[in-house]
Amino acid sequence: MKKVSLSYFVIGIALYTLSGCSSKHAEKADYTWLKYAIETSAAQLEYTVSEIGDSVLLPRSIWTGYDVNFLCQQLEKKQLIGKDSARLKPIHDNLGSRRYCFSIYDWTSGFFPGNLWYAYQLTGNEEFKKEAVKFTNYLYPLREYKGTHDIGFMVNCSFGNSFRLCPVDSVRQALIQTADNLCGRFNPEIGCIRSWDFGKWNFPVIIDNMMNLDLLFYVSHLTGDDKYKELALKHAETTMKNHFRDDYSSYHVVSYNNDGTVEKKCTHQGQKDDSSWARGQAWGLYGYTSCYRESKNAEFLRQAENIAALIMRRVKTEDAIPLWDYDAPDMPQTPRDASAASITASALIELSTLVEDGQIYFDYAERLLKNLSSEAYLAKVGTNQGFILMHSTGSLPNGSEIDTPINYADYYYLEALLRYMKVKGLNYKLSLIHI
Ligand code: GLY
Repeated sequence: MKKVSLSYFVIGIALYTLSGCSSKHAEKADYTWLKYAIETSAAQLEYTVSEIGDSVLLPRSIWTGYDVNFLCQQLEKKQLIGKDSARLKPIHDNLGSRRYCFSIYDWTSGFFPGNLWYAYQLTGNEEFKKEAVKFTNYLYPLREYKGTHDIGFMVNCSFGNSFRLCPVDSVRQALIQTADNLCGRFNPEIGCIRSWDFGKWNFPVIIDNMMNLDLLFYVSHLTGDDKYKELALKHAETTMKNHFRDDYSSYHVVSYNNDGTVEKKCTHQGQKDDSSWARGQAWGLYGYTSCYRESKNAEFLRQAENIAALIMRRVKTEDAIPLWDYDAPDMPQTPRDASAASITASALIELSTLVEDGQIYFDYAERLLKNLSSEAYLAKVGTNQGFILMHSTGSLPNGSEIDTPINYADYYYLEALLRYMKVKGLNYKLSLIHI
């Protein structure tokens, strides 16, 4: 998006008209917070795009330094589990500056293009579409990549949204090719898609992998071939059996032996092996909600509802934005994870539409969204290196991205705003006036 368009756009957003398809709704409710959330998000993305210019860079988070002793206290351990200690000290010249994906093969590379697609959908501003196409195109080589389960995230959030909003054949092909590559990571003996190719595990599967299933569901719809969906549902069944504890909290990592027995259950990003890592619970909730949407299998619905209940029961903060792990020390300085809240909000809105009495889920999601849209989490325009939300936590045990903005927090926040407006029958009309 060129800087020249900014004046039009700022005027445009000043003239947003929020209108409900049901005018009764719109008159009664106060949607000032929502209008402000969309205006701020759009302005932040426009600012980011103008800063990047024509460089091939994908924003990810902000470089931050940490106090190792504080992190060890959070973990109630003497040592961090990662090897990233260099990241812990404020040694970077670039501390406080925007951190970009290391390449298109970074697991978060699809989120920034996805944010631009969502901004286009929210505002109707064609400049966002133009930028979304440009940033999505950078990722085209990913259709050949087989090195991680994260290709589901990377390609669905970028090319998936691209095809949904502006279908073209090459994008369809990229989605199918990626889905085939993701299926290539499925082991039928184990009944799961392999998550990572690094580390000491035999066949690691992480709860996050539930999020890659949406690509497979989407490609089943695109092609009319159920094989993608069936494989995804098998993965979800195996994960339901082995990842969850009696209270419906989940392990982060379950590694399997080649015969399908469990080798090990542990964590890589949570507080300890049997703790409830906040984003992991959100990934599980979102994943099983998708599985129920696609299969109408009541077991998946029960799983999603039980995870939702766990999240609502275990949250310790007044504003319901969780601490980075539900078992982390309950102290004011414990970092929160806004990304877990935005994923949860998006999932709960969908869940609310799939059950008879979904109001409890919708109300909780609305509370999360209003709190994320408050000044405690929503950045002021021109600050936060152009990211929308503050206060997410990537991987505390690895000393990485703690209490910082992160692109996927923004992605699921925008998605939740869209889902919220759909349920409420709300629509934004953008009135651009040329001066
Ligand atoms: N999928 C990696 C994470 O949630 O941090």
